[in-house]
Amino acid sequence: MHVVALLSQKGGTGKTTLALHLAVAAERARQVAAVIDLDPQASAAGWKDSRAGESPVVVSVQATRLAHALDLARDGGAEIVFLDTAPHSSDVALAAAEAADLVLIPCRAGILDLRAIGATARLAKIAGKPAYVILNSMPARASNVAADARAAVAVHGLDAAPVTIQQRAAYAHALTAGQTAQEYEPSGKAADEVTQLYQWLQPRLRSAAPSKPRA
Ligand SMILES: Nc1ncnc2c1ncn2[C@@H]1O[C@H](COP(=O)(O)OP(=O)(O)OP(=O)(O)O)[C@@H](O)[C@H]1O
Ligand SMILES: [Mg+2]
Repeated sequence: MHVVALLSQKGGTGKTTLALHLAVAAERARQVAAVIDLDPQASAAGWKDSRAGESPVVVSVQATRLAHALDLARDGGAEIVFLDTAPHSSDVALAAAEAADLVLIPCRAGILDLRAIGATARLAKIAGKPAYVILNSMPARASNVAADARAAVAVHGLDAAPVTIQQRAAYAHALTAGQTAQEYEPSGKAADEVTQLYQWLQPRLRSAAPSKPRA
């Protein structure tokens, strides 16, 4: 079972959006996926409540129950688990990074957002886990914005994934409807870039050590 933590100490960067979209991408690629929602605001779990489909499983747990929740996911046959986390809680973020094989750090392209990834980058480093920034909510037709953002990410010793996520209404509309963009607008550009992001993630997960059951 692989475990991916979505972390950013800054709020509103796209942790929940990406956790849910990647979980549905995994299900569509015939992997059994689950989301563990560690955010007391429980927005991922709320999305699940408004969703008609059975999958992916989304559970809301306190961070102290994370190891137990991962054991349940493993026993239940999950092949990939996404950890959605709250901003501003370095203890929970560190616990999530330690439990994960790989850390994804969603970040918007603004300079204040880019400066803020240092704290999250340090947590991933303390946990000793590979970490990548996902540039999210990027403006359309502004390639210099992406290039500048990549340079700013590199200052923190991290790489940004080559696949970027643009600002698209489909992401927000889909979640409101208990769906993801792949379901809301299957042949839309948002669906396409999420699939690309999932495909980019796969070889990185294979080369990261998979999460083992507790001894
Ligand atoms: N690529 C995108 N295009 C358009 N809207 C987006 C995109 N990514 C996220 N959003 C919107 O931005 C807001 C914040 O996203 P989200 O809730 O996923 O962030 P978060 O990091 O989980 O926030 P928090 O730190 O509060 O948990 C939401 O309203 C979401 O719909
Ligand atoms: Mg969130």
